[in-house]
Amino acid sequence: MREGTATLIRREDYVAPVFWIRTVDLCFDLEPAKTLVTSKMRLERNAGVPHGPLRLHGEELNLLRVLIDGESVSFRQEGHELIIDNVPDADFNLEIRNTCAPEKNTALSGLYTSGGGFFTQCEAEGFRRITYFLDRPDVMAVYTVTLRADKARYPMLLSNGNLLETATLDNGRHLAKWHDPFPKPSYLFALVAADLVAREQRIRTRAGKDHLLQVYVRRGDLEKTEHAMNSLIASVVWDEARFKLPLDLERFMVVGVSDFNMGAMENKGLNIFNTAALLASPAISTDADFHRIESIVAHEYFHNWTGNRVTCRDWFQLSLKEGLTVFRDQEFSQDMAATPSARAVCRIQDVRALRAMQFPEDAGSMAHAVRPDQYVEINNFYTATVYNKGAEVVRMYQTLVGREGFAKGMSLYFERHDGQAVTCDDFAQAIADANPGSPLSTRLDTFRRWYSQAGTPRLQARGAYDADARTYTLTLSQANPATPGQDGKQPQVIPVALGLLSREGRPLPLTLQGEDGGTVATERVLVLDQAEQSFVFVDVAGEPVPSLLRGFSAPVVLDDGLGDAELLVLLKHDSDAFNRWEASQRLALARILGAVRSGEPLTLDAAYLDAMRAVLRHADLDPAFKALALQLPDEAYIAEQLTEVDPQAVHAAVAAAQEQLATALQADWAWAFETHQVSAGYSPDPVQSGKRALVNLSLAMLVLNATRGGDGVWPGRAYQRIKDATNMTDRLGALSALVNAHAELADSALARFHAQFKGEALVIDKWFAMQGRAAEQDGKTFARVKQLMKHADFTLKNPNRARSLIFSLCMFNPAAFHRADAAGYVFWAEQVLALDAINPQVAGRLARVMDRWTALAEPYRGAAREAIVRVAAKPDLSNDVREIVERALA
Ligand code: ARG
Ligand code: ZN
Repeated sequence: MREGTATLIRREDYVAPVFWIRTVDLCFDLEPAKTLVTSKMRLERNAGVPHGPLRLHGEELNLLRVLIDGESVSFRQEGHELIIDNVPDADFNLEIRNTCAPEKNTALSGLYTSGGGFFTQCEAEGFRRITYFLDRPDVMAVYTVTLRADKARYPMLLSNGNLLETATLDNGRHLAKWHDPFPKPSYLFALVAADLVAREQRIRTRAGKDHLLQVYVRRGDLEKTEHAMNSLIASVVWDEARFKLPLDLERFMVVGVSDFNMGAMENKGLNIFNTAALLASPAISTDADFHRIESIVAHEYFHNWTGNRVTCRDWFQLSLKEGLTVFRDQEFSQDMAATPSARAVCRIQDVRALRAMQFPEDAGSMAHAVRPDQYVEINNFYTATVYNKGAEVVRMYQTLVGREGFAKGMSLYFERHDGQAVTCDDFAQAIADANPGSPLSTRLDTFRRWYSQAGTPRLQARGAYDADARTYTLTLSQANPATPGQDGKQPQVIPVALGLLSREGRPLPLTLQGEDGGTVATERVLVLDQAEQSFVFVDVAGEPVPSLLRGFSAPVVLDDGLGDAELLVLLKHDSDAFNRWEASQRLALARILGAVRSGEPLTLDAAYLDAMRAVLRHADLDPAFKALALQLPDEAYIAEQLTEVDPQAVHAAVAAAQEQLATALQADWAWAFETHQVSAGYSPDPVQSGKRALVNLSLAMLVLNATRGGDGVWPGRAYQRIKDATNMTDRLGALSALVNAHAELADSALARFHAQFKGEALVIDKWFAMQGRAAEQDGKTFARVKQLMKHADFTLKNPNRARSLIFSLCMFNPAAFHRADAAGYVFWAEQVLALDAINPQVAGRLARVMDRWTALAEPYRGAAREAIVRVAAKPDLSNDVREIVERALA
C-alpha cells in the first residue's frame, strides 16, 4: 500500500507551478464503498516559468479516464503523480474521472465516512486523495461542486460557497450544486453529505450586510450548539471591530464530525469541526471546554481572512496563517474576558501551554524554525512551534509597533495581498512598511531571524545599583542553544517589557540615561538586538527589584538571577499579573529543582508556605488567578530545566510538594472550598469559572490530604458532590480529586460516572482521559490504562478515543509513562505501530512523545532508544512516523 516515497522537501527548492488551474467543476456520485469523481478543469500555462509536462498529484485513487479538450490523451503514472507530456500551449480543458473509497479511508484525510455520513479533510494534502490535481496552496481555482447521493441517508449535501440548485433524482437520490466565487487552494475545499440538523442565525453586520450562520450537527446534538453559535457571532463582531475585517460570505456554515484528526478546519464558508471542539452544554462540558470551543470557533472564523483571503505560497509558510490566527484568537479571548485580571489569566494559560509543549519541542529532536526549512511529511509540522511560537512572534510585532501600528500593518497586508498566496516575509514587510521608523522597521532583518532560527533563546539579565550615582544598570544578554542542523545562532530581537519596583513594592519611574527626566512611565519596553546591551536608568532612589519580560513579552527563557526575597516582593506587589504568577511558579520551581538536583527529599519551608497561604487568602486577587498561582509547574516544564532528567525523581518532588501544600494549608483549602461555591445558574464566564477552578483545586488538596492521614471527611464529600453536581466542571473536578488521590471511593465513582454518561462519547473520552492522566502511584495508573485498552468502549479508530487514553498516558503523564522496567516504552511502540496502520497522522503525533529521549537519565534513556529503534525497524512505516523516529535517532 505504501510506496516508500520519503523524499525531503526543501524550502529553497520552491518553484512556481508550471500550470495554473483557473476553474474546476467537480461532480461527486457519493457511495461509501466507491465514490465517482468527475473533475473538469480549465488550465493555463504559467507564462513566468519554463515549459514542462503537467504533473498532477493523486493518491489511493482509481483512474478511469483523462481527456484534454474532449479527446483522450496519453499519460503516465509515477508514484503519486499523473504525468501528461503533451499538453496544448494555449489554455485547455482537462477532464478527469476517478473513484476513491471513502469507507476504507481510516486515515481521515481526503474524503471519508464517519457516523454514516461523508466528510472531507484536505489540509494539507488530502485533496489528492479525492482526485488528481495541482494540490499545492499557490494554485487557486474557482470551484463549482455538484453532489449526488441517496436522499434518505444523506439529506444534507454541503460544499463551499453558495447553493445554486437542488434537485430530486431517480432511485431515491438527490443533488445539490454549490459555487464558491472566491478562488481558493485545494486544501480549502470541503464537502459534507450526511443526516444533520442545523441551528441557524441571521445576522446583520456593521457594514449593513445580512448573513446566514449555520451550525450543523447530528440529530440530538442541536441543544449543544448554542455556545458555538454565540462564539461565532462574537467572532464576526470582533474581527470587524478590531481589524475591520468583515464576513465576506452570505452563508457561513460550521459542521461537527466525531472522527477528526485535529480540532477543526477553516474550509471556505464550510468549517468542519471535531465535535469535541464544537459541542457544549453545562451537563457534558467543563469551563475549560467552553473556553476552548470559543477560541477554536474564533480561530477557524478568523482564518477566513488570515489563511483564506490571503493564503500560503507553500507549506513552509504555514505559520503565516497559523501563527497569525492563533495570535488573533488569543487576542479575541482576552478581549472577551473583559477584566484585566481575566485577561491576565488567559495570558498565563497561553504561556503555560507554550512552555509545556513548545519549549520541549524547541529543545528536542524535532526542533524547527517557525518557518521550517525542510520536511518529509508536512502533517508533522502542524506543531506548537508553527502555531504557538508563531503566535508569540506575531505578538512581538504588536509589542514593537503598538496596537494601532499593528492594525495599520494588517490593513496594508490585506491591501497588498488580498487574493494571493504569499510568504512570512511578505507579512513582515507589510507590518514594517506600515510603521516606518518603528523599532521593528529599523531592525527588520534581525527580527526575521525569529522565522529562521529554531531554539528558545536564553535571556540573561543582571542589574547593578550605584547608590552614589543613583543609577541602575541593567545588562541584558542573549544566547540561543544549538538545535539539529543549526549551530551558530545570531542574536534575535527581544522586546523586554519591564518595570522596576522599590523593595517596598512601589513602581519606580523609568528614565534612561540621556532622556529628559520628564518621563514618568513605570513600564516600558527595551529592545535587545545584540548579544549584549546595557541600559542605565537614572534617578533611582534605592536598589530596585526588576520585573522583567512582563506579560511574557518574548518567547525566551529568562535568567534574572532573582532570589526568594525579590520574588516574594514581586509576588506581593507586581502590577503585572503575569509576573506575579511567574513569581509563584519560580518559588515552587526553585524548591522542586533543589530537591531533584540534590536527591534529598523535598521539604517546603515556612516562607514559601506562608506566601502561598497569603495568595490563597488574599482579599483582592481573583480566584482564577489564585488557582493558577497555587498550581505547581508542569512536570514537562520542570524536566526542561534539567540537563539529565529522571522523570520519577521529578514526579516524587512534585508529589511531595503537593502533599505538603495540601497538609500545611488544609484549613485554608477548606475555607477556600466553602467560600467560593457558585450558587447562581451555570455560566462559563471568568468569574464563575474562576471560583470553580479554586474550589476544585481546594477539593483535590483536601482529598489528597485525607488519603495521607488528614481529615477523612473529604473523600465522602467529593463522592457526594459527584452525585449532586449540576454541571460537568464540578462533577469532573470532584471525580478527578478521588481518582488522582487513588482514594478508595474512586472506583465506584468512576463506575457510576460511566453508567451515567455512557451515551455521550465526549464524556466517555473524559472518563478515559482522567484515568490515563491520574497521578501515578505504585504503577496503578499504568496497570489501569493497560486494562482500559480492552474496555468495550475503547477503539483506536476514533482519534478522540485513542488520544483520550493513550496520549493521556504517554504524553501527559510522565511518571506513569517513564518506568524503570521500560513497560511504558514497550506500550508506546506497540501503539505507534498499531495506530500507524490505521491513521498515520495520529500515529505520528504519538511518536513525538520520544522527542526528548536523549535528555533522559539511565535506565530510561537506553530503554527509550530501544523502543524507538524497534519502531524504526518496521519496513512499511508511514512517512509521518518514519520522519519522527529517524529524526529522534539521528
Ligand atoms: N488549519 C487547521 C487549523 O489550525 C488545522 C489543519 C491541520 N491539518 C493537518 N493535516 N494536520 O485550524
Ligand atoms: Zn489554524
